[in-house]
Amino acid sequence: MELLITDFGFDGEGVGKVDQKVCFVRFALVGERVEVEPCQTHAKFLKAKLVNVTKPSNRRVAPPCPYFARCGGCDFQHISYQDELAIKKQILQRQLQKLGQNPSITVQASGQEYHYRNKVKLFVSNGLAFHSAYGQGFVKIDKCLIAKPQINQTIAHLSKFLEREKLFEKIKYVEIKQIEKTILINLFVRKTIAAGFQNFLSTLGCRAKIFQTEGKKTSLLASSDCFEASSPNSFHQVNDQVAELLYQKVCSLAKGKTIANCYSGAGLLSKMLLDCGGKKVYGLELGQSEHQEAENLKKRYRLASLQNIQGDCAQTLPSIKNQVELIIVDPPRAGCSQKVLASIDESAACELVYISCNHASFARDVGRLKNFVLDQVEIFDMFPKTANFEIFSHLHRI
Ligand SMILES: C[S@@+](CC[C@H](N)C(=O)[O-])C[C@H]1O[C@@H](n2cnc3c(N)ncnc32)[C@H](O)[C@@H]1O
Repeated sequence: MELLITDFGFDGEGVGKVDQKVCFVRFALVGERVEVEPCQTHAKFLKAKLVNVTKPSNRRVAPPCPYFARCGGCDFQHISYQDELAIKKQILQRQLQKLGQNPSITVQASGQEYHYRNKVKLFVSNGLAFHSAYGQGFVKIDKCLIAKPQINQTIAHLSKFLEREKLFEKIKYVEIKQIEKTILINLFVRKTIAAGFQNFLSTLGCRAKIFQTEGKKTSLLASSDCFEASSPNSFHQVNDQVAELLYQKVCSLAKGKTIANCYSGAGLLSKMLLDCGGKKVYGLELGQSEHQEAENLKKRYRLASLQNIQGDCAQTLPSIKNQVELIIVDPPRAGCSQKVLASIDESAACELVYISCNHASFARDVGRLKNFVLDQVEIFDMFPKTANFEIFSHLHRI
């Protein structure tokens, strides 16, 4: 089928019409005439695979990654970074316009367009692989251009090792994380494994730990030397440089305030809020390993004004909501529950910072808040080359 792409969708994909039905085409650009093959048909729309660009846009550039448009990881290697940021800004603008809001949106670009990711998740399919672009099957890869160089070196060594030891069939997927100069590898196994991982770690030439996770149980397989590291399962932002800029922005609001840092993760932001003059910080986090790391930070830096509370924010925020002046939320992609939003509305806080990596749940939650209005929105481009981005927003009580 052939069609003209007339717009872009909320995931940055091209949008056109086929037989009066809306058709979404990943990797197609506005103004392009394209040949496609349908891959998912629904009552009102269809999703199609890009087969050929018969009339390319003059915004189209050559993607640097050989796997682009076959691998499902990236969305935007076929346009300039400036064009990518402009699309992201328009996506957020449209999302907020649906709520009747039209705030000006500033954009903080990432210092690195490529080689920024400190974490990758690779599936095992005849080697190490990512999901394919159209949701079926996997694309075997040797390296990932958006991952940090040390992660790519680890992929190369690990892939050779797993093949030599015939371990591929025992592993479902692998997560590799880089925290500063340390590498953490977590093998999600079908069945417990025990191979010569100590020798393998010495080939990496850096501080490293390797773990295996079977079901819900994670255990250490080997460590390059004796050192303390964060849990491989704890949440950390994936772009260190942009995370630092985002945290600085949030911390500029901290001085002299009592703050609820909801969904606080491993506690880095809580510490920075105090370093920047916050009076008291409550770190509310559900995850056991993240909470433990936040407690370790509190102990290491003697943060007497930090109180970490483990549990669901829906339960923990109500208990402190009358003591705080500023509430910060940074929820997972699903956004905040109605209970958390009600608690924010009923709190003593006059200010709310909502950080989000999902524009749809962000807009929904802002629309549900009864007593707060948006006064500032900024995109922090945490995930260049993908359709995702981080949103910083500031709201005040009406
Ligand atoms: C997007 S991360 C943000 C982490 C942190 N703000 C940071 O910058 O590293 C979301 C965090 O919320 C935690 N979480 C998920 N559901 C939660 C809930 N219902 N209550 C509290 N924390 C939750 C996750 O474990 C994760 O650490």
